[in-house]
Amino acid sequence: MTTASQRNVTTTDSGSPVESDEHSLTVGPGGPILLQDSYLIEQMAQFNRERIPERQPHAKGSGAFGTFEVTNDVSAYTKATLFQPGATTDVAARFSTVAGERGSPDTWRDPRGFSLKFYTPEGNYDMVGNNTPVFFIKDPMKFQHFIRSQKRRADNNLRDHDMQWDFWTLSPESAHQVTWLMGDRGIPRTWRHMNGYTSHTYMWINAEGKESWVKYHFKTDQGIETFTQHEADQLASADTDYHVRDLFEHIADGEYPSWTLYVQVMPYEDAKDYRFNPFDLTKVWPHSDYPLIEVGKLTLNRNATDNHAEIEQLAFQPNNFVPGIGPSPDRMLLGRLFSYADAHRYRIGANYQQLPVNAPINEVHTYSKDGAMAFRKTSDPVYAPNSKGAAHADTSQKVPSWQADGDITRAAYVSHAEDDDWGQAGTLVRDVYDDEQRERLVDNVVGHLLNGVTEPILERAFEYWRNIDKGIGDRIAAGVEEKKNEKDPKAGPQGNPARESMQRKA
Ligand code: NDP
Ligand code: HEM
Repeated sequence: MTTASQRNVTTTDSGSPVESDEHSLTVGPGGPILLQDSYLIEQMAQFNRERIPERQPHAKGSGAFGTFEVTNDVSAYTKATLFQPGATTDVAARFSTVAGERGSPDTWRDPRGFSLKFYTPEGNYDMVGNNTPVFFIKDPMKFQHFIRSQKRRADNNLRDHDMQWDFWTLSPESAHQVTWLMGDRGIPRTWRHMNGYTSHTYMWINAEGKESWVKYHFKTDQGIETFTQHEADQLASADTDYHVRDLFEHIADGEYPSWTLYVQVMPYEDAKDYRFNPFDLTKVWPHSDYPLIEVGKLTLNRNATDNHAEIEQLAFQPNNFVPGIGPSPDRMLLGRLFSYADAHRYRIGANYQQLPVNAPINEVHTYSKDGAMAFRKTSDPVYAPNSKGAAHADTSQKVPSWQADGDITRAAYVSHAEDDDWGQAGTLVRDVYDDEQRERLVDNVVGHLLNGVTEPILERAFEYWRNIDKGIGDRIAAGVEEKKNEKDPKAGPQGNPARESMQRKA
């Protein structure tokens, strides 16, 4: 006799064949439905539990799978197996916006997440970066406040440029990232057409135990392409999921996107006296100081077949390191080492690392056990140390470390010779942007400020930009004054005429 599955008939979740996918069990065709219709109840109950909490930041996104292939010998700097000559490693990737919810438009101006999980023979290595080499803040104490200022107000549940600029102008360390965000790269044309950066500095350790500091740059092989504000605004309503669709369709059509990974490597001892604090997440290391060294190629060539199981439940955590790679004194990074696994335990559940997409390819020998939905079998002994021949720690592993001392304190970062909040942002405006890019930068900022930013925050915003570049600040101030009383329905993605009329009424 053939089974239900062999006959491809619908089954209940426990596997027994069901009689109908269309009709509930009733007392006669006109009578009430019955509590004994377990199939109907299972369908309704399961439906009510389909959603898991969305990621707090970076809720909107999608991803794909592929490989990372080493093309250059960097073994002088790291012993990590995934970066050894000839190595090819399977990878999961997810791209995202930061502030929007799961259904929000892909083309809102925002940094983009660029997350990678490398399934290495020595455990999973997660690189959870963005498409920008810097970030808005440099201390994890401010992260929660920063994200709240980018999301929604308490009273009307609306996003609010007033609170965004309030936070930014009171946090001058944001200037470099805000200059980037308001520039062309603030709206990538697709995820295929943007770079990815670790942003943070990490430690690499070679086979001899020699330590270096490192920053990763994944440069798109498709070339950088961006949308203007106007193009992005139109797409935000025409195709909310433009970036999700673009990635999926290109991979489905065999047009696999790829990125070349380069690193900047700083000798360990340079860090102390380098002209910028090398662990300050609001600064880059100029390429002329630490040139890019090629490492390998990332190619995405496989779509998920179940977005929930493989992407929504995909859990990245910057504390997933492998031998040869470690953290650095970057405070933001150290804060993130705690935050992500904590988020996953809440969002997915205590045993999220047992899900196929999160599980490492190597055998796990852990003494962690039990908890909801545990399906990895635990065997005795359930403790260590033990004299039963079970797994024991590898004491030959060197903990990535650096020298630290001083009184326990709450203090600003150690300042290096050229550290200030405005300098590198000014370099970006003056030396990297051309005239047309500067023009679009001014237009973008003027449009953003005109959309609900009030005094005295507006005046602070002009000063903020004058600190970055006097000329740009003056142009922004003049642009805002000129257009202040004009109603501009194309003001921006959050350029919401309804909000403007509400403010006028207030
Ligand atoms: P370089 O001239 O060597 O590098 C300039 C960098 O700017 C290039 O990496 C380029 O990216 C990137 N870039 C080009 N156009 C834009 C844009 N519209 N928006 C953002 N980035 C852009 O100079 P330095 O290394 O001395 O850096 C100068 C400034 O460039 C920095 O202050 C920083 O703002 C910015 N920058 C620096 C990076 C670094 O790691 N040093 C990385 C990215 C930006 P690409 O070649 O990747 O297309
Ligand atoms: C997502 C916290 C800084 C990139 C998240 C999530 C949390 C978080 C809680 C949701 C995780 C989840 O539910 O799956 C923090 C904290 C930070 C910080 C506390 C600073 C102290 C950064 C920085 C970057 C970054 C500096 C980039 C360099 C990302 C990305 C995601 C994410 C890409 C989405 C990951 C995915 O695709 O699943 N962050 N974050 N974050 N964060 Fe951060």
